[in-house]
Amino acid sequence: MAPVSLVVIGAGERGTGYARWARRHPDRASVVAVAEPSEVRRARFAAEHGIPAQHAAADWRELAGRGRLADAVLICTQDRMHEEPARAFAALGYHMLLEKPMAADEAACRRIVAAIERAGVMLAVGHVMRYTPYTRAVKEIVESGQLGDIMSVEHLEPVGFWHQAHSYVRGHWRRSDLATTMLMAKSCHDLDWLQHVLGQPPARVSSFGSLTHFTAANRPAGAADRCLDCSVEAACPYSAPRLYRGLLDRGGRGWPLSVVVDEFTPAALDDALRYGPYGRCVYACDNDAVDHQVVALEFPGAATATFTMTAFSQGGHRRTRLFGTRGELTGDGETIRVYDFLTRAERLITPAPAGAMNVADGHGGGDAGLMDAFTAAVDTGNRDLIMSGPRESLASHLAVFAAERARLNGTVETIPPYSGQG
Ligand SMILES: NC(=O)c1ccc[n+]([C@@H]2O[C@H](COP(=O)([O-])OP(=O)(O)OC[C@H]3O[C@@H](n4cnc5c(N)ncnc54)[C@H](O)[C@@H]3O)[C@@H](O)[C@H]2O)c1
Repeated sequence: MAPVSLVVIGAGERGTGYARWARRHPDRASVVAVAEPSEVRRARFAAEHGIPAQHAAADWRELAGRGRLADAVLICTQDRMHEEPARAFAALGYHMLLEKPMAADEAACRRIVAAIERAGVMLAVGHVMRYTPYTRAVKEIVESGQLGDIMSVEHLEPVGFWHQAHSYVRGHWRRSDLATTMLMAKSCHDLDWLQHVLGQPPARVSSFGSLTHFTAANRPAGAADRCLDCSVEAACPYSAPRLYRGLLDRGGRGWPLSVVVDEFTPAALDDALRYGPYGRCVYACDNDAVDHQVVALEFPGAATATFTMTAFSQGGHRRTRLFGTRGELTGDGETIRVYDFLTRAERLITPAPAGAMNVADGHGGGDAGLMDAFTAAVDTGNRDLIMSGPRESLASHLAVFAAERARLNGTVETIPPYSGQG
Protein backbone atom coordinates (compact mmCIF):
# COMPACT_ATOMS: atom_id res chain seq x y z
CA MET A 1 0.00 0.00 0.00
CA ALA A 2 1.23 3.53 -0.77
CA PRO A 3 1.73 5.76 2.27
CA VAL A 4 -1.15 8.10 3.09
CA SER A 5 -0.40 11.49 1.52
CA LEU A 6 -0.80 14.57 3.71
CA VAL A 7 -1.11 18.33 3.32
CA VAL A 8 -0.06 20.32 6.39
CA ILE A 9 -1.73 23.67 7.05
CA GLY A 10 0.39 25.68 9.48
CA ALA A 11 4.01 24.58 9.99
CA GLY A 12 4.12 25.75 13.60
CA GLU A 13 4.59 23.60 16.70
CA ARG A 14 1.78 21.15 16.01
CA GLY A 15 2.09 20.91 12.25
CA THR A 16 5.82 20.26 12.55
CA GLY A 17 5.30 17.68 15.27
CA TYR A 18 2.70 15.63 13.39
CA ALA A 19 4.76 15.85 10.20
CA ARG A 20 7.78 14.52 12.09
CA TRP A 21 5.78 11.37 12.81
CA ALA A 22 5.26 10.93 9.07
CA ARG A 23 8.99 11.29 8.48
CA ARG A 24 9.68 8.61 11.07
CA HIS A 25 7.11 6.32 9.44
CA PRO A 26 7.67 6.78 5.69
CA ASP A 27 5.83 3.54 4.94
CA ARG A 28 2.68 4.95 6.61
CA ALA A 29 2.51 8.61 5.58
CA SER A 30 4.25 11.31 3.59
CA VAL A 31 3.78 15.06 3.55
CA VAL A 32 3.35 16.33 0.00
CA ALA A 33 2.38 19.99 0.49
CA VAL A 34 2.48 22.70 3.14
CA ALA A 35 0.92 26.13 3.67
CA GLU A 36 2.73 28.46 6.05
CA PRO A 37 3.09 32.26 5.85
CA SER A 38 6.39 32.44 7.78
CA GLU A 39 9.15 32.09 5.20
CA VAL A 40 11.62 30.67 7.69
CA ARG A 41 9.23 27.97 8.85
CA ARG A 42 7.97 27.19 5.37
CA ALA A 43 11.47 26.79 3.91
CA ARG A 44 12.65 24.66 6.84
CA PHE A 45 9.57 22.45 6.66
CA ALA A 46 9.71 22.07 2.86
CA ALA A 47 13.39 21.11 3.03
CA GLU A 48 12.78 18.55 5.80
CA HIS A 49 10.02 16.85 3.83
CA GLY A 50 11.37 17.29 0.31
CA ILE A 51 8.37 19.36 -0.76
CA PRO A 52 8.77 21.06 -4.14
CA ALA A 53 8.41 24.86 -4.26
CA GLN A 54 5.07 24.76 -6.08
CA HIS A 55 3.60 22.74 -3.18
CA ALA A 56 4.88 25.09 -0.46
CA ALA A 57 2.38 27.94 -0.23
CA ALA A 58 2.15 31.00 2.01
CA ASP A 59 -1.58 30.59 2.66
CA TRP A 60 -3.91 27.60 2.92
CA ARG A 61 -6.25 29.18 0.37
CA GLU A 62 -3.62 28.77 -2.32
CA LEU A 63 -3.51 25.01 -1.75
CA ALA A 64 -7.29 24.73 -1.44
CA GLY A 65 -7.57 26.49 -4.79
CA ARG A 66 -5.76 23.62 -6.48
CA GLY A 67 -8.29 20.90 -5.75
CA ARG A 68 -7.42 17.71 -3.92
CA LEU A 69 -3.65 17.19 -3.70
CA ALA A 70 -3.55 14.46 -1.06
CA ASP A 71 -5.58 11.90 0.89
CA ALA A 72 -5.76 13.99 4.04
CA VAL A 73 -5.08 17.40 5.53
CA LEU A 74 -3.72 18.31 8.96
CA ILE A 75 -5.14 21.68 10.05
CA CYS A 76 -2.70 23.10 12.57
CA THR A 77 -3.34 26.84 12.42
CA GLN A 78 -4.16 28.88 15.50
CA ASP A 79 -7.51 28.52 17.28
CA ARG A 80 -9.41 31.23 15.40
CA MET A 81 -8.25 29.90 12.02
CA HIS A 82 -9.80 26.43 12.07
CA GLU A 83 -13.31 26.77 10.72
CA GLU A 84 -12.62 28.27 7.31
CA PRO A 85 -9.93 25.79 6.19
CA ALA A 86 -11.81 22.89 7.81
CA ARG A 87 -14.93 23.58 5.77
CA ALA A 88 -12.98 24.29 2.58
CA PHE A 89 -10.86 21.12 2.73
CA ALA A 90 -13.86 18.97 3.75
CA ALA A 91 -15.71 20.20 0.65
CA LEU A 92 -12.70 19.14 -1.44
CA GLY A 93 -12.99 15.60 -0.08
CA TYR A 94 -9.95 15.58 2.22
CA HIS A 95 -9.96 13.42 5.34
CA MET A 96 -8.94 15.68 8.18
CA LEU A 97 -6.97 15.89 11.39
CA LEU A 98 -8.13 19.14 12.97
CA GLU A 99 -6.38 20.60 15.98
CA LYS A 100 -8.43 21.37 19.05
CA PRO A 101 -10.32 23.53 19.71
CA MET A 102 -12.47 22.73 16.70
CA ALA A 103 -13.52 26.39 16.72
CA ALA A 104 -13.98 29.25 19.16
CA ASP A 105 -17.76 29.07 19.43
CA GLU A 106 -20.50 26.48 19.49
CA ALA A 107 -22.14 27.43 16.18
CA ALA A 108 -18.81 27.20 14.32
CA CYS A 109 -18.12 23.76 15.82
CA ARG A 110 -21.54 22.57 14.64
CA ARG A 111 -20.90 23.99 11.16
CA ILE A 112 -17.61 22.06 10.95
CA VAL A 113 -19.30 18.80 11.93
CA ALA A 114 -22.07 19.44 9.39
CA ALA A 115 -19.48 20.10 6.65
CA ILE A 116 -17.60 16.91 7.54
CA GLU A 117 -20.76 14.81 7.53
CA ARG A 118 -22.00 16.36 4.30
CA ALA A 119 -18.71 15.55 2.59
CA GLY A 120 -18.62 12.05 4.10
CA VAL A 121 -14.94 12.44 5.05
CA MET A 122 -13.25 11.29 8.25
CA LEU A 123 -12.37 13.74 11.00
CA ALA A 124 -9.99 13.25 13.92
CA VAL A 125 -9.84 16.12 16.41
CA GLY A 126 -6.52 16.67 18.24
CA HIS A 127 -7.70 15.16 21.52
CA VAL A 128 -4.36 13.45 21.93
CA MET A 129 -4.98 12.37 25.52
CA ARG A 130 -7.41 9.71 24.28
CA TYR A 131 -4.58 8.01 22.42
CA THR A 132 -1.95 7.53 25.18
CA PRO A 133 -1.07 4.07 26.50
CA TYR A 134 -1.96 5.39 29.97
CA THR A 135 -5.49 6.43 28.95
CA ARG A 136 -6.06 3.15 27.13
CA ALA A 137 -5.13 1.32 30.34
CA VAL A 138 -7.43 3.47 32.53
CA LYS A 139 -10.33 3.02 30.11
CA GLU A 140 -9.79 -0.72 29.94
CA ILE A 141 -9.97 -0.97 33.73
CA VAL A 142 -13.18 1.10 33.86
CA GLU A 143 -14.80 -0.96 31.10
CA SER A 144 -13.78 -4.26 32.71
CA GLY A 145 -16.12 -3.50 35.62
CA GLN A 146 -13.42 -4.01 38.27
CA LEU A 147 -14.30 -0.68 39.85
CA GLY A 148 -18.07 -1.37 39.77
CA ASP A 149 -20.10 1.71 38.89
CA ILE A 150 -18.10 4.93 38.96
CA MET A 151 -19.75 7.29 41.41
CA SER A 152 -17.23 10.07 41.88
CA VAL A 153 -14.22 11.47 40.05
CA GLU A 154 -11.48 13.86 41.10
CA HIS A 155 -9.33 15.15 38.21
CA LEU A 156 -6.51 17.70 38.34
CA GLU A 157 -4.64 19.54 35.60
CA PRO A 158 -1.58 21.08 37.25
CA VAL A 159 -0.71 23.42 34.37
CA GLY A 160 2.50 24.56 36.03
CA PHE A 161 3.71 28.03 36.96
CA TRP A 162 6.09 28.57 34.01
CA HIS A 163 3.80 26.94 31.44
CA GLN A 164 0.99 29.25 32.53
CA ALA A 165 3.29 32.28 32.22
CA HIS A 166 4.54 31.13 28.81
CA SER A 167 1.28 30.22 27.09
CA TYR A 168 -1.55 31.85 29.04
CA VAL A 169 -0.07 35.13 30.36
CA ARG A 170 2.51 36.15 27.73
CA GLY A 171 1.69 33.77 24.88
CA HIS A 172 -0.82 32.78 22.21
CA TRP A 173 -3.61 31.78 24.59
CA ARG A 174 -3.52 34.76 26.94
CA ARG A 175 -6.77 36.31 25.71
CA SER A 176 -10.07 34.78 24.85
CA ASP A 177 -10.80 37.27 22.06
CA LEU A 178 -7.52 36.38 20.31
CA ALA A 179 -7.67 32.63 20.90
CA THR A 180 -10.21 30.97 23.16
CA THR A 181 -10.96 30.59 26.85
CA MET A 182 -8.48 28.97 29.22
CA LEU A 183 -10.86 26.08 29.77
CA MET A 184 -11.11 25.46 26.04
CA ALA A 185 -7.43 26.02 25.32
CA LYS A 186 -6.02 23.79 28.03
CA SER A 187 -8.79 21.78 29.49
CA CYS A 188 -11.01 20.79 26.60
CA HIS A 189 -8.63 17.82 26.83
CA ASP A 190 -9.71 17.15 30.40
CA LEU A 191 -13.46 17.38 29.87
CA ASP A 192 -13.02 15.25 26.76
CA TRP A 193 -10.91 12.74 28.70
CA LEU A 194 -13.55 12.41 31.44
CA GLN A 195 -16.24 11.85 28.80
CA HIS A 196 -14.05 9.25 27.10
CA VAL A 197 -13.13 7.37 30.28
CA LEU A 198 -16.67 7.41 31.72
CA GLY A 199 -18.12 6.48 28.33
CA GLN A 200 -20.65 9.30 28.11
CA PRO A 201 -20.84 13.08 28.05
CA PRO A 202 -21.86 14.95 31.23
CA ALA A 203 -25.38 16.30 31.55
CA ARG A 204 -24.94 19.35 33.80
CA VAL A 205 -22.06 21.61 34.89
CA SER A 206 -21.20 24.47 37.19
CA SER A 207 -17.90 26.29 37.43
CA PHE A 208 -15.92 28.89 39.36
CA GLY A 209 -12.58 30.51 38.65
CA SER A 210 -10.87 33.74 37.71
CA LEU A 211 -7.73 35.52 36.72
CA THR A 212 -6.46 36.50 40.15
CA HIS A 213 -2.69 36.53 40.31
CA PHE A 214 -1.30 37.66 36.94
CA THR A 215 -2.71 41.18 37.14
CA ALA A 216 -1.32 44.69 37.62
CA ALA A 217 -2.55 44.65 41.23
CA ASN A 218 0.04 41.99 42.10
CA ARG A 219 2.96 43.68 40.40
CA PRO A 220 5.83 43.83 42.91
CA ALA A 221 7.19 47.25 43.87
CA GLY A 222 10.07 48.15 41.55
CA ALA A 223 9.06 45.72 38.78
CA ALA A 224 9.68 46.92 35.22
CA ASP A 225 7.52 46.21 32.16
CA ARG A 226 10.19 43.83 30.85
CA CYS A 227 12.24 41.29 32.78
CA LEU A 228 15.48 42.52 31.18
CA ASP A 229 14.98 45.94 32.81
CA CYS A 230 13.63 44.65 36.11
CA SER A 231 15.42 45.22 39.41
CA VAL A 232 13.40 42.52 41.20
CA GLU A 233 13.67 39.88 38.46
CA ALA A 234 15.94 37.65 40.55
CA ALA A 235 13.20 37.21 43.14
CA CYS A 236 10.43 36.47 40.61
CA PRO A 237 9.50 32.82 39.88
CA TYR A 238 8.10 33.91 36.52
CA SER A 239 11.30 35.53 35.21
CA ALA A 240 11.49 35.13 31.42
CA PRO A 241 15.30 35.29 31.16
CA ARG A 242 15.67 32.58 33.81
CA LEU A 243 13.28 30.26 31.97
CA TYR A 244 14.36 30.77 28.37
CA ARG A 245 18.11 31.34 28.90
CA GLY A 246 18.15 28.26 31.09
CA LEU A 247 16.59 26.23 28.28
CA LEU A 248 18.98 27.63 25.68
CA ASP A 249 22.01 26.95 27.92
CA ARG A 250 20.90 23.36 28.35
CA GLY A 251 20.70 22.93 24.57
CA GLY A 252 16.90 23.23 24.36
CA ARG A 253 15.73 23.57 20.77
CA GLY A 254 12.10 22.52 20.88
CA TRP A 255 9.00 23.81 22.67
CA PRO A 256 8.70 26.22 24.46
CA LEU A 257 11.90 27.91 23.21
CA SER A 258 10.92 27.37 19.57
CA VAL A 259 7.85 29.55 20.16
CA VAL A 260 10.04 32.43 21.33
CA VAL A 261 12.85 32.34 18.72
CA ASP A 262 13.43 30.97 15.24
CA GLU A 263 17.21 31.06 15.75
CA PHE A 264 18.66 29.41 18.84
CA THR A 265 21.36 31.94 19.76
CA PRO A 266 21.80 34.14 22.86
CA ALA A 267 21.55 37.24 20.64
CA ALA A 268 18.24 36.15 19.06
CA LEU A 269 16.86 35.28 22.48
CA ASP A 270 17.92 38.63 23.98
CA ASP A 271 16.22 40.35 21.07
CA ALA A 272 13.02 38.39 21.66
CA LEU A 273 13.09 39.17 25.38
CA ARG A 274 13.77 42.85 24.71
CA TYR A 275 11.09 43.39 22.05
CA GLY A 276 8.80 40.36 21.84
CA PRO A 277 5.81 39.23 23.92
CA TYR A 278 7.76 36.61 25.87
CA GLY A 279 10.00 39.16 27.65
CA ARG A 280 7.10 40.96 29.29
CA CYS A 281 6.49 41.17 33.04
CA VAL A 282 3.71 38.70 33.90
CA TYR A 283 2.04 41.49 35.86
CA ALA A 284 2.05 43.88 32.88
CA CYS A 285 0.56 41.82 30.06
CA ASP A 286 -2.71 42.16 28.15
CA ASN A 287 -3.99 38.80 29.44
CA ASP A 288 -7.44 37.69 30.59
CA ALA A 289 -7.05 33.88 30.77
CA VAL A 290 -8.08 32.58 34.18
CA ASP A 291 -5.28 31.23 36.34
CA HIS A 292 -7.37 28.77 38.34
CA GLN A 293 -10.74 27.18 37.68
CA VAL A 294 -12.89 24.39 39.01
CA VAL A 295 -15.69 22.60 37.15
CA ALA A 296 -18.30 20.34 38.77
CA LEU A 297 -19.97 17.85 36.45
CA GLU A 298 -22.96 15.56 36.76
CA PHE A 299 -23.21 12.58 34.43
CA PRO A 300 -26.42 10.79 33.40
CA GLY A 301 -26.89 8.02 35.99
CA ALA A 302 -25.73 10.32 38.83
CA ALA A 303 -21.93 10.00 38.73
CA THR A 304 -20.29 13.28 39.71
CA ALA A 305 -16.87 14.70 38.92
CA THR A 306 -14.78 17.67 39.89
CA PHE A 307 -12.07 19.07 37.70
CA THR A 308 -9.45 21.57 38.83
CA MET A 309 -7.02 23.41 36.61
CA THR A 310 -4.43 25.55 38.31
CA ALA A 311 -1.42 27.57 37.23
CA PHE A 312 0.03 27.33 40.71
CA SER A 313 1.79 24.02 40.61
CA GLN A 314 5.06 22.47 39.63
CA GLY A 315 3.38 21.08 36.50
CA GLY A 316 3.53 17.51 35.31
CA HIS A 317 0.92 14.95 34.45
CA ARG A 318 -2.77 15.21 35.15
CA ARG A 319 -3.82 13.28 38.25
CA THR A 320 -7.07 11.41 38.65
CA ARG A 321 -9.01 9.39 41.19
CA LEU A 322 -12.00 7.30 40.16
CA PHE A 323 -14.23 6.11 42.96
CA GLY A 324 -16.37 3.08 42.06
CA THR A 325 -18.77 0.86 43.99
CA ARG A 326 -16.24 -2.01 44.03
CA GLY A 327 -12.88 -0.25 43.92
CA GLU A 328 -10.84 2.90 43.67
CA LEU A 329 -8.38 3.89 40.94
CA THR A 330 -5.59 6.41 41.44
CA GLY A 331 -3.64 7.57 38.40
CA ASP A 332 -0.73 10.00 38.16
CA GLY A 333 -0.35 9.94 34.39
CA GLU A 334 2.23 7.16 34.49
CA THR A 335 1.23 4.67 37.13
CA ILE A 336 -2.24 3.35 37.93
CA ARG A 337 -3.16 1.87 41.30
CA VAL A 338 -6.38 -0.10 41.68
CA TYR A 339 -7.66 -0.92 45.16
CA ASP A 340 -10.26 -3.70 45.32
CA PHE A 341 -12.87 -3.37 48.12
CA LEU A 342 -13.56 -7.12 48.20
CA THR A 343 -10.00 -8.41 48.51
CA ARG A 344 -8.58 -5.20 50.01
CA ALA A 345 -5.61 -5.72 47.73
CA GLU A 346 -3.95 -3.07 45.59
CA ARG A 347 -2.72 -3.70 42.09
CA LEU A 348 -0.13 -1.56 40.34
CA ILE A 349 -0.31 -1.05 36.57
CA THR A 350 2.46 0.74 34.68
CA PRO A 351 1.63 1.25 31.00
CA ALA A 352 4.60 1.67 28.65
CA PRO A 353 6.30 4.98 29.58
CA ALA A 354 5.66 7.45 26.79
CA GLY A 355 7.03 10.84 27.89
CA ALA A 356 5.64 13.90 29.60
CA MET A 357 2.19 15.26 28.81
CA ASN A 358 3.44 18.30 26.90
CA VAL A 359 4.13 19.44 23.34
CA ALA A 360 7.88 18.84 23.65
CA ASP A 361 7.38 15.26 24.69
CA GLY A 362 4.57 14.39 22.29
CA HIS A 363 1.88 14.41 25.01
CA GLY A 364 2.69 11.09 26.65
CA GLY A 365 2.52 9.18 23.37
CA GLY A 366 -0.77 10.86 22.43
CA ASP A 367 0.55 12.71 19.36
CA ALA A 368 2.01 9.52 17.93
CA GLY A 369 -1.09 7.54 18.91
CA LEU A 370 -3.35 10.01 17.12
CA MET A 371 -1.23 10.00 13.94
CA ASP A 372 -1.06 6.22 14.02
CA ALA A 373 -4.85 5.89 14.35
CA PHE A 374 -5.69 8.64 11.87
CA THR A 375 -3.40 7.45 9.09
CA ALA A 376 -4.53 3.84 9.62
CA ALA A 377 -8.17 4.98 9.36
CA VAL A 378 -7.48 6.86 6.11
CA ASP A 379 -5.48 3.95 4.75
CA THR A 380 -8.08 1.28 5.52
CA GLY A 381 -11.27 3.32 5.40
CA ASN A 382 -12.05 2.11 8.93
CA ARG A 383 -13.30 5.20 10.75
CA ASP A 384 -13.71 3.26 14.01
CA LEU A 385 -9.95 3.56 14.51
CA ILE A 386 -10.48 7.27 15.22
CA MET A 387 -11.37 7.79 18.87
CA SER A 388 -11.89 11.56 18.58
CA GLY A 389 -14.39 11.73 15.74
CA PRO A 390 -16.77 14.61 14.98
CA ARG A 391 -19.68 13.75 17.26
CA GLU A 392 -17.79 12.80 20.39
CA SER A 393 -15.47 15.79 19.97
CA LEU A 394 -18.41 18.12 19.46
CA ALA A 395 -20.05 16.72 22.60
CA SER A 396 -17.02 17.49 24.76
CA HIS A 397 -16.65 20.94 23.20
CA LEU A 398 -20.32 21.61 24.10
CA ALA A 399 -19.50 20.69 27.72
CA VAL A 400 -16.63 23.18 27.73
CA PHE A 401 -18.81 25.98 26.34
CA ALA A 402 -21.49 25.18 28.94
CA ALA A 403 -18.94 25.18 31.79
CA GLU A 404 -17.63 28.56 30.70
CA ARG A 405 -21.19 29.95 30.58
CA ALA A 406 -21.70 28.58 34.09
CA ARG A 407 -18.53 30.30 35.33
CA LEU A 408 -19.39 33.64 33.75
CA ASN A 409 -23.05 33.67 34.75
CA GLY A 410 -22.93 31.83 38.07
CA THR A 411 -25.39 29.25 36.75
CA VAL A 412 -25.80 25.50 36.57
CA GLU A 413 -25.89 24.71 32.85
CA THR A 414 -27.52 21.77 31.12
CA ILE A 415 -25.30 20.63 28.28
CA PRO A 416 -27.21 20.68 24.99
CA PRO A 417 -27.22 17.33 23.21
CA TYR A 418 -25.72 17.13 19.74
CA SER A 419 -28.73 17.57 17.51
CA GLY A 420 -27.20 16.64 14.18
CA GLN A 421 -28.12 20.03 12.78
CA GLY A 422 -25.28 22.13 11.34
N1 LIG B 1 -3.64 18.85 20.73
C1 LIG B 1 -2.90 19.50 21.58
O1 LIG B 1 -2.56 18.99 22.65
C2 LIG B 1 -2.44 20.89 21.27
C3 LIG B 1 -1.32 21.43 21.91
C4 LIG B 1 -0.93 22.71 21.58
C5 LIG B 1 -1.65 23.44 20.66
N2 LIG B 1 -2.75 22.91 20.07
C6 LIG B 1 -3.55 23.66 19.08
O2 LIG B 1 -2.94 23.51 17.81
C7 LIG B 1 -3.13 24.70 17.03
C8 LIG B 1 -1.78 25.19 16.56
O3 LIG B 1 -0.97 25.49 17.68
P1 LIG B 1 0.60 25.74 17.53
O4 LIG B 1 1.16 25.82 18.89
O5 LIG B 1 1.15 24.78 16.55
O6 LIG B 1 0.58 27.20 16.88
P2 LIG B 1 1.71 27.90 16.02
O7 LIG B 1 1.43 29.35 16.11
O8 LIG B 1 3.03 27.39 16.42
O9 LIG B 1 1.40 27.38 14.55
C9 LIG B 1 0.37 27.87 13.75
C10 LIG B 1 0.96 28.16 12.38
O10 LIG B 1 -0.07 28.52 11.47
C11 LIG B 1 0.50 29.44 10.57
N3 LIG B 1 -0.51 30.16 9.79
C12 LIG B 1 -1.05 31.38 10.06
N4 LIG B 1 -1.86 31.75 9.04
C13 LIG B 1 -1.83 30.74 8.13
C14 LIG B 1 -2.45 30.56 6.86
N5 LIG B 1 -3.25 31.50 6.33
N6 LIG B 1 -2.21 29.42 6.17
C15 LIG B 1 -1.39 28.48 6.68
N7 LIG B 1 -0.77 28.61 7.88
C16 LIG B 1 -1.00 29.73 8.60
C17 LIG B 1 1.33 30.32 11.48
O11 LIG B 1 2.29 31.11 10.77
C18 LIG B 1 1.97 29.32 12.40
O12 LIG B 1 3.25 28.88 11.98
C19 LIG B 1 -3.85 25.69 17.93
O13 LIG B 1 -5.22 25.70 17.64
C20 LIG B 1 -3.61 25.14 19.34
O14 LIG B 1 -4.60 25.48 20.27
C21 LIG B 1 -3.13 21.63 20.34
